[in-house]
Amino acid sequence: MRNDNMSKAGVIGECEEGTVNLRFRDEKTLNDKVFSALARRDFLRFGAAGAVMLTVNGGGKSFAAPKAAVSHGKKRAPSDFKEVSGGADARLHVAEGYVADILLRWGDPLTPTLGAFNPYAQSPEEQEKRFGYNNDFTALFPLPRDAKNPDRMLLCVNHEYPISALMFNAPEGEGGAYSKKQIDIAMSALGVTVAEIKRDGKGGFSPVIESPYNRRISFRTTAIDISGPARGHARMRTKDDPKGETVIGTVQNCAGGVTPWDSYLTCEENINYVFSTRTPEKISDEEMKKLRRFDFGGKPQGLSEHYDRFDPAKEPNEPNRFGWVVEIDPYDPTATPVKRTALGRFKHEGCTCVLAKDGRLVAYMGDDQHFEYVYKFVSARPYDRLNRENNRNLLDEGVLHVAVFEENGGVIWKPLAFGNGPLTPENGFHSQADILIDARQAGDLLQATPTDRPEDIEVDPLTGKVYVSFTMNEKREQTNPVSPRPKNVHGQILEITPENDDHASSSGVWNMLLLGGPAAEGGTPDDETTADGTLSCPDNLAFDAFGRLWVATDQGKNWHEKSGSTDGLFTVETSGEKRGKSRRFLRAPIGSEVTGVTFTPDVKNLFVSIQHPGGDGCENWEEFARESCFSDPATRWPDFKPDMPPRPSLVVIRRENGEAI
Ligand code: FEO
Ligand code: CA
Ligand code: CA
Ligand code: CA
Repeated sequence: MRNDNMSKAGVIGECEEGTVNLRFRDEKTLNDKVFSALARRDFLRFGAAGAVMLTVNGGGKSFAAPKAAVSHGKKRAPSDFKEVSGGADARLHVAEGYVADILLRWGDPLTPTLGAFNPYAQSPEEQEKRFGYNNDFTALFPLPRDAKNPDRMLLCVNHEYPISALMFNAPEGEGGAYSKKQIDIAMSALGVTVAEIKRDGKGGFSPVIESPYNRRISFRTTAIDISGPARGHARMRTKDDPKGETVIGTVQNCAGGVTPWDSYLTCEENINYVFSTRTPEKISDEEMKKLRRFDFGGKPQGLSEHYDRFDPAKEPNEPNRFGWVVEIDPYDPTATPVKRTALGRFKHEGCTCVLAKDGRLVAYMGDDQHFEYVYKFVSARPYDRLNRENNRNLLDEGVLHVAVFEENGGVIWKPLAFGNGPLTPENGFHSQADILIDARQAGDLLQATPTDRPEDIEVDPLTGKVYVSFTMNEKREQTNPVSPRPKNVHGQILEITPENDDHASSSGVWNMLLLGGPAAEGGTPDDETTADGTLSCPDNLAFDAFGRLWVATDQGKNWHEKSGSTDGLFTVETSGEKRGKSRRFLRAPIGSEVTGVTFTPDVKNLFVSIQHPGGDGCENWEEFARESCFSDPATRWPDFKPDMPPRPSLVVIRRENGEAI
């Protein structure tokens, strides 16, 4: 069902005539992840004196959060802003009384040796020192690490995928294709940025371009260690890396997470878009089946024209080396990032970390593809809050679980462990590494629940309840308990309460929080929800320190048939009479989606990524009604200069009166 329109010959086969589309993602939908864990830890640092301590994850070594995280002593109602209207235009709109400043744009220098960005004179080498393209997930780390109320912070940002038509004025390769240099620029624009930022004295932030912490981790050049059970496994070995221990690059970095020990997790999602072949007949049927499960078979991308390793017919194990969660220490610019294979290989959206009652780390993860699964990893050892070094390899040992959502409202987490039930050699699993590399197939055997593209997962810092956004699944025919609508175009948000409020427990209960779209199409909204506030296709989630849930949408190119507005950022009530009610706080520029939603611990600043402005569905905007490209974009946000294309950018929002958001 999921790859039914893909013939073997269609597997990323021959190039189309004319330009090779360098867009590493053609699904036109996207995504983020913030940090309930970091938020809780920071409550300790930033919380009001004398605040009531509420142990979110039970006692022992868990993070403890003051109920009144900031200053008001109670949960703030999420409705104290005036809603932004729906609609579509070239600009970013935030609620009245709020200001959105641009912090970093694609191409901005991260070192004083570079000048201002010139999109007509790009190079791979320079792009490795400039802010990357299509910024997504964001996270903040205090600087120094133990600072109580820092003016300086480390900002980590994912760069998910390139859009050649918006990055380059014209293809420069033979036959109208993008050249190797352009492909290298695009590869250099992906991965992660680590950048120091400081408060600007006016309520916002500015980048510190001379900071020694500034760093780009790129798809093209950065060596990354492979750790955990799949390290060194035969299926991880390639000609370039005969030991299966190191891979160059991380890619399609969508959302992520933050660990309690202040490391950054970046998640590899739509890895299928970087592989292609002209000789699919050389791929074995067994390997082809596995590639198809990952939806390999999109448009040709051109990487394999220049790099053999991205041709699965030439390097069959290279796809196994992508699709992981990568851990980065932002405090050590020389640290080698690490692919943590114990967390499984799939299209990782994000990786939200919390602590179990006994102090073990639990990481919730969604696999964002139609009918794929929800997972959680439980570490073998507890987090050591006193000795950071002891947590360095905590993510290498533990048990990955997959979710079964039952009709009666129960959730069962089944261990993806070698020897458990059908996970045996008779069924093709010869080791734990096999199970992790093919986590999806292992989930099949455990009869995990096929879902509607699980995106972000967040944990309410005040209640410990877990929220999962399922963005949409237009391919769905058969419904199931957590996917109640066929041809699901609007998506839903599910709430999970772990048994005994312990994230390590093997069961829980689920409830529906919100069904997207208007009531007439089966959505939750009633007369009290305005048309402006009705959301479709929930994607990135974030809780602020007040316990308010924020939801960013990703409707894709058919936004005009969904909410009728460009994507936005909304608040959604999680309790009380207004549970499930949504209100619009922000409306994004045409073609973009909102990702990377992160609050400073004092909730005075809200960081959001505006990804692919002028990108998706501009042809469906009546005022433009054509394909958007570098020379003729639907918007030139945020610069609005006549020779500057739209630039994905990181925005910092604050309240004009200086109070919390
Ligand atoms: Fe990259 Fe699932 O969004
Ligand atoms: Ca999405
Ligand atoms: Ca996403
Ligand atoms: Ca999030």
